[in-house]
Amino acid sequence: MSFVDWSQAYTVNNPSLDEQHQKLFAIINKLHEAMFAKRGRESVGETIRELVEYTQKHFSEEERQMELHGYAGLAAHKKVHEELLKKVKEIEKHYQQSSESVAGEMIGFLVSDWLVKHILGMDKQYAPYLKGNRHQ
Ligand SMILES: [Fe+2]
Ligand SMILES: [Fe+2]
Repeated sequence: MSFVDWSQAYTVNNPSLDEQHQKLFAIINKLHEAMFAKRGRESVGETIRELVEYTQKHFSEEERQMELHGYAGLAAHKKVHEELLKKVKEIEKHYQQSSESVAGEMIGFLVSDWLVKHILGMDKQYAPYLKGNRHQ
């Protein structure tokens, strides 16, 4: 069983963004598994790096789509992305400097709380704007 599961109910009406969200869920699951299976620092560290990189890629693609569809909430959404990215980078830094157990707790909380909540909350708000639009 996965730690977090993407569901069709989370769709943002854009196949490529949905795919990216699924990939983010998969990275979160991988991170969770790496920690609980005690795969070692290297594997956990690598997965955190993957999360940072993919989050960056996803946020810029999502912002491009919102802009393309003239979404009015773009500026506010961008600001939240900036904060989230800053936090992921802080997690990475903290992980490199502290013990695995402390980082594990922090990552579990931050990732499920903000990343999943962001997708299910704020990302869902732009979904109606993307509906039925051909720019995909
Ligand atoms: Fe998103
Ligand atoms: Fe977003």
